[in-house]
Amino acid sequence: MCLAFVRGLCESVFFVKPIANLKRVIPMRQRIWILAALVTSLTGAMFAQKDSVSASLALTPPMGFNTWNKFGCDVSDELVRTMADAMVKSGMKDAGYQYIVIDDCWQVSRDTKGNIVADSQRFPSGIKALADYVHSLGLKFGIYSDAGSKTCAGRPGGRGHEFQDALQYAAWDVDYLKYDWCNTTTQDAQASYALIREALDASGRPIVLSICEWGKAKPWLWGKDVGGNLWRTTEDITDNWEGPVKWSDGTCCAPGMLGILDLQVGLESYAGPGHWNDPDMLEVGNGGMTTAEYRSHFSLWAILAAPLMAGNDLRSMTPEIHDILTNKEVIAVDQDALGREGRRVWKDGDLEVWAKQQQDGSRAAVLLNRGKSEQKISLKWEQIGYPGHLPATVRDLWLHKELGRFSGEFSAAVAPHGVVMVTVRP
Ligand code: GLA
Repeated sequence: MCLAFVRGLCESVFFVKPIANLKRVIPMRQRIWILAALVTSLTGAMFAQKDSVSASLALTPPMGFNTWNKFGCDVSDELVRTMADAMVKSGMKDAGYQYIVIDDCWQVSRDTKGNIVADSQRFPSGIKALADYVHSLGLKFGIYSDAGSKTCAGRPGGRGHEFQDALQYAAWDVDYLKYDWCNTTTQDAQASYALIREALDASGRPIVLSICEWGKAKPWLWGKDVGGNLWRTTEDITDNWEGPVKWSDGTCCAPGMLGILDLQVGLESYAGPGHWNDPDMLEVGNGGMTTAEYRSHFSLWAILAAPLMAGNDLRSMTPEIHDILTNKEVIAVDQDALGREGRRVWKDGDLEVWAKQQQDGSRAAVLLNRGKSEQKISLKWEQIGYPGHLPATVRDLWLHKELGRFSGEFSAAVAPHGVVMVTVRP
């Protein structure tokens, strides 16, 4: 029946004469093969098309703001609108930030038909009106749910409602979905995220899928294949230079910013345009680290080609924090179109060099001093794949200054808990 359908389709639409002639010149068995090949290529084209929906999103690491790190469950229509306003007024939008994402706690229940219900006290004009407002500023709108029965804050999760929720998100004009992993009991991670991607695609709206599974089932191995655009590689970041630190509920222990950095080593090859390792959202500006430490945090996330999701109050940033988050030279490293994730190319105790290849053949590098006193760190050309004799221009991305031409290596004094971030251009 299937073959008859395809043959009918061919004869009626494309090949009326040719198919009739084929009967005369090509034996039955070969005709069946030709039809089978046709069916295969048609279905292949359908799947390639589906793949390309998610693969065409987030070609550079997503940049935006997410409510969780600073506001937790204290989310509201007003908070999101004012944060979107601040993203524009502060120049962050011009610097490349795009997504405004409401994390957990916007949802309270499901109605009798199973539709997800937003908190009407906190979002009195509804989610669609809020998304429209964010879009009116030229920004994109993101939302949060969970693959399990409940979100991490105990709100209704997505399990069993994937297609219904995806249609709702599309009707609200959602551009980005962060999908968490709490209360998933025995669910299979890969299958759960494949299902929500399928549902999102079926909604007809291109929606970035942010897999938030904390690295438990190694999502870097399968995240791209299930249509994820980014996947968390670790548990939650906390606003500390270095772990281990106790979680807010007193249990042990959060890795801290540097602990998360260490967990990225070896994951570099899994990232690329449309699919990124996500070492979690930024803590820059939340008060737990010094300005130098936040500068290091931001530089390291940029060299990692990490998503840059600000997690601070954009309405009340100090000039120092503003200058960190809007440093266009550092952001350009994160957003480089080649999409290579940087890697640690050298380590000696507290001193490290991280480097990232860029599209124009240049390298970006971070010289990191994890220690408590100033130290000299050398970046050697052999660490970044250049021959030692090659002269190259070194530019400091925080001083916004050319430092000169160097051959073989470049050395700098690096402040405690600080970085020197440079590009090296032959
Ligand atoms: C988990 C996630 C966080 C945040 C909270 C919300 O802990 O990893 O990023 O979304 O849930 O409850």
